[in-house]
Amino acid sequence: MKLSQEEKNKLETIYQDYFHNEKILKMKEVSMHRGSNTYIHSFRVAKLAIKRALRRKHLDLESILIASILHDYYLYDWRKNREMKKHHAKRHPIIAAENAKRDFDITDKVNDIIKEHMWPYNFKLFPKTKEARIVSNADNTVAFKEAITSIAHKKKRMDKYMDGIQKLFD
Ligand SMILES: [Fe+2]
Ligand SMILES: [Fe+2]
Repeated sequence: MKLSQEEKNKLETIYQDYFHNEKILKMKEVSMHRGSNTYIHSFRVAKLAIKRALRRKHLDLESILIASILHDYYLYDWRKNREMKKHHAKRHPIIAAENAKRDFDITDKVNDIIKEHMWPYNFKLFPKTKEARIVSNADNTVAFKEAITSIAHKKKRMDKYMDGIQKLFD
């Protein structure tokens, strides 16, 4: 998919609006994958999902972008709550989708992509669209990379991580 400068600018503006949004910045307080947090994680997923989507044709990039940024917008620390810990993998996509609907003006399509990102953990929520499958796959790749990197290494690279997610198109 080849984008015009205008299309690129539109996506970059959406990305930047979320990147600096007060509510989204709260995701920095929710740690995940040994030394990362949901903020860094989600913007990395967004960048990777868009990069992969650009290699394909006829995809709804705006939905991919917004759903990637909001896919883990659950805003609680599941490690601190036993009950949450037990059900986190299955439940957090539903909670993230509800929070996203409450705090942002999102479409039903974006809502579905968020809910479906943890398939097959949540077997009933199969990713129906190509967009949902791209977000789910990008999430898996980023989560895997974060899980295999040590905390010490991640700490050292934190600034680099932040630099790397400042913009959608470098
Ligand atoms: Fe997730
Ligand atoms: Fe995720």
